[in-house]
Formats: sequence, structure tokens, C-alpha cells
Amino acid sequence: FVQDLDHPFLAQAIQEFHNLRIRLGGSLQDRVVYDVGTNSPCSPFTNVSNGLFGFSAGCLSMDRWDKLNDLFQKTGAIITFGLNALHGRYNVQRSFWAGKWNSTNTYDFVEYTISKGYPVDSWEFGNELSGHGTGARVDAKLYGKDVIELKSILRQLYRTPLSQPLLLAPGGFFDQQWYT
Ligand SMILES: *[C@@H]1O[C@H](CO)[C@@H](O)[C@H](O)[C@H]1NC(C)=O
Ligand SMILES: *[C@@H]1O[C@H](CO)[C@@H](O)[C@H](O)[C@H]1NC(C)=O
Repeated sequence: FVQDLDHPFLAQAIQEFHNLRIRLGGSLQDRVVYDVGTNSPCSPFTNVSNGLFGFSAGCLSMDRWDKLNDLFQKTGAIITFGLNALHGRYNVQRSFWAGKWNSTNTYDFVEYTISKGYPVDSWEFGNELSGHGTGARVDAKLYGKDVIELKSILRQLYRTPLSQPLLLAPGGFFDQQWYT
């Protein structure tokens, strides 16, 4: 996540690209907890040696989310937000994660986002968790089930079908074995 949101060049740079699509997420997105609902308050990123990419779970405050959306609306950016698809899972060994995805935090976060009227264009589920993954991977069947759950959450929260953003999955490397 961008550090200095008030930097004048940032808004200007986004505007110059005219409806620039911004993808929020990346290697830490599956460790981020949204500071809302039952997960509030949460604690900021700290470095633990056994964490994914050297980080433990971190925290996105709603104040920061508000400021980011302020910036996006001012600049006309189109937003793809990468959701945490590892929440509730546990690390089995090395990069392999198992267990059911816990959707509570995502539910609360999407609900908050809708209540504020923030126009997220698409929600992406997890960062490159397919195939061999980058830092983490999840079994395809498990991932598929959770995508279905996320889809139903979006359907439930965005009341009208036309207002429903796209759901992007798996947003990772193509690996034939993983898909079959
Ligand atoms: C990060 O980890 C290093 C080494 O384990 C430690 O010395 C340092 O204090 C840690 N930094 C923070 C902010 O926790
Ligand atoms: C899921 O996560 C929420 C917090 O986001 C927690 O309160 C709840 O107990 C978790 N549910 C399960 C089944 O672990």
C-alpha cells in the first residue's frame, strides 16, 4: 500500500493516466486483516521470521481505506482490490496452506466498502495462490469452494446484480494440473 497519499505527484500521476486501473494487493495481501467488525482493532505489520515473505499478518485501517478512496475518486482511478484468501487457513509446510478460508473479515470489509459507496471495480481472491504459487499456495478444490462462497457473499451484499463487481480468480500462474 502506498505510503504517502498526500503527495501531490501521486494524484497528478494517476490523473494523467486517465482512468488508470490500480491493483491493490500483491505479496502481502494474503496477510492483511481489515480493521473492521469482529477484527477491530487489529495490529500493524511486524516482522516475524516464519511469516509469509518475512511478515506476519498486518492491518488495514478503515481510516486509511477512506483516504485511499478519496484519492481514487478525485483521480478517477478504477480499482481492483486483492482480498486476503489465507485468512483462517494454516500453514502446513513451506508454502502450502490448508484449512477453510474464514470469510468473516472479508464480509465485514466489503460491507463497509458498500456502505461508503466506494466503487470497487473488481475483487480479486488471493495473490497468486494457484499452481506452485509465489510465496503461498492452496489446493485447487479448496480454493474453488471458497471462490463460490465469496461469490455468494458478493451477491448477498451487493443487492442488485448490475452493481456487483467482478470477481477475479485465481489471479495466479497458469498450471494445468492445478486447474484440472
Ligand atoms: C525485525 O526482526 C529483526 C530480526 O529478527 C529484529 O532485530 C527487529 O527488531 C525487528 N523489527 C521490528 C520492527 O520488529
Ligand atoms: C473467523 O474469523 C472471525 C474474525 O474475523 C472470528 O471471530 C471467528 O471466530 C472465525 N471463525 C472461525 C470458524 O474460525
